[in-house]
Amino acid sequence: CGIVGVVGSRNATDILMQGLEKLEYRGYDSAGIFVTGKNKKSKLVKSVGRIETLREKIGIDVAGTTGIGHTRWATHGKPTEDNAHPHASTSGRFVLVHNGVIENFVELHNEYLTDDIFKGQTDTEIAVHLIALFVEKDGLTTLDAFKKALGLIQGSYAFALMDANEPDTIYVAKNKSPLLIGLGDGYNMVCSDAMAMIRETSEFMEIHDQELVILKNDSVLVTDYAGNKIERDSYTAELDLSDIGKGTYPFYMLKEIDEQPTVMRHLISTYADANGKMKVAPEIVESVQKADRIYIIAAGTSYNAGFGAKTMLEELTNTPVELGLASEWGYDMPLLSAHPFFIFLTQSGETADSRQVLVKVNELGLPSLTITNVPGSTLSREATYTLLIGAGPEIAVASTKAYTGQIATLAFLAKAVGEAEGNTKAFEFDLVTELSLVAQSIEATLSEKEKIGEIVAKNLLTTRNAFYIGRKQDYFVAMEASLKLKEISYVQCEGFAAGELKHGTISLIEKGTPVIALISNNEKVALHTRGNVMETVARGASAIIIAEDGASRADDDIIVNAVHPYLSAISMIIPTQLIAYETSFQRGLDVDKPRNLAKAVTVE
Ligand code: G6P
Repeated sequence: CGIVGVVGSRNATDILMQGLEKLEYRGYDSAGIFVTGKNKKSKLVKSVGRIETLREKIGIDVAGTTGIGHTRWATHGKPTEDNAHPHASTSGRFVLVHNGVIENFVELHNEYLTDDIFKGQTDTEIAVHLIALFVEKDGLTTLDAFKKALGLIQGSYAFALMDANEPDTIYVAKNKSPLLIGLGDGYNMVCSDAMAMIRETSEFMEIHDQELVILKNDSVLVTDYAGNKIERDSYTAELDLSDIGKGTYPFYMLKEIDEQPTVMRHLISTYADANGKMKVAPEIVESVQKADRIYIIAAGTSYNAGFGAKTMLEELTNTPVELGLASEWGYDMPLLSAHPFFIFLTQSGETADSRQVLVKVNELGLPSLTITNVPGSTLSREATYTLLIGAGPEIAVASTKAYTGQIATLAFLAKAVGEAEGNTKAFEFDLVTELSLVAQSIEATLSEKEKIGEIVAKNLLTTRNAFYIGRKQDYFVAMEASLKLKEISYVQCEGFAAGELKHGTISLIEKGTPVIALISNNEKVALHTRGNVMETVARGASAIIIAEDGASRADDDIIVNAVHPYLSAISMIIPTQLIAYETSFQRGLDVDKPRNLAKAVTVE
């Protein structure tokens, strides 16, 4: 979901619509805006589907200087126009947008609202009806009514509230969900993601949990819920709007796949000096050195990236690495080691599941590092340390360059810690050279797009299911490869440990089921995986073999240039990203915006 808001002297509709377009990449299923201004008629417009549909509906007659807008990713209630934000009170005077989940909305409804005045089925509506009730029945001011409602609401939220009688003010509050204030000259903004307002300003102000903001064109008043004023400095966001363009690419995903050699080279210049010495902040290295166990917490593709780096991290730092799914760890932390160190892998830095684990880690006073692509993001701000991937904005919902960038960033950390520990393996691992070779290997695979397109046309255009199999590091890559295919092509695909298939899952293999085997240059497992491929072929599968040079045979379908075994998850994932892209593209699907998904999921 995304929130935008602006109060000031400029055309609010333009700013809001451009902001919503910038948030499109996060995934949404409906959108809306509310605009008003002095001597202007207020107008609320919502629509299901794309921002273009909303734009058509708005036409030219919505003008004003203050407004709020929203893109919704359904949590409670279907994606319908009634459920889209902004939500208005029955009188129409109060209008608000919300990200997050109000957990006690049923209880609040039963306690405070006698009639069923909800128009839709969302949890959000309770907030606007409560505020209206407290003003219109109890005679409170809008600010006091908002505070009273915030005192009652349990859950996560970022709110932007407007009172049509005060067209020069937006009321804002936040708990757990991301929210920033953007500072302009003669106007001010609110947004859930700096990207939405980067066209208008690069000056932003953080808002912390349980803080309230009164936003006017020339002032930003931040207080706690008791009304105590909070002083907060602004910061300059390091985002470059020119990074956001799609250029001549049909989809962002293809552009982002192609950018990966550049990302690798950029990481070399960020984390190594001209002599190949590691440039990772010493306090991070020392903190990891003190740990007896490294816990990597992540979701989705970032979780798979953690696996891609696990063996390397363990071998170079001599420390066991445990992976945790953020959505599982939030509820119950397992028994921790005596000296844990937490790494949060997150492209967006905003994933609520990951953040709730970080909140607990902070409560326990434990050290943490966020590895993220978004400077200034919530998890970056709240962890002890941050390492940036610097891959440039990733717009396609399906993550590609963030995955490879995360593994490469972890390689720099692993080598820096290993060297500090005096581990010979770490000194022998010439990361700068090896990562340059990875960049070349990626380039070689990228030049095979046509061939990969043909493989897809032959095997993946009509199938309902497929398998990726591999052993060891290849198994971890299989997990990510299958997630990529599922996400954007809707082919049900499992990433499986090649040897485990025969213990049950092989019963799913039918005539023509695509089985894609990943065989990297690991002599211990390559032959075994080939054996497992033959088992599936004997049962009718159509095998596609992606092998690394050195472990490959002449008739393998795709051969990947060999790289250091620690980095093979990066080079081996590239053909699978292209397979996912081609499958989605050739099936005529919206590659960048797959159904039901959001780029950054800011609800638990
Ligand atoms: C969402 C996205 C996934 C992503 C996951 C974790 O579910 O659709 O592509 O991998 O969140 O996101 P993060 O920003 O924390 O890496």
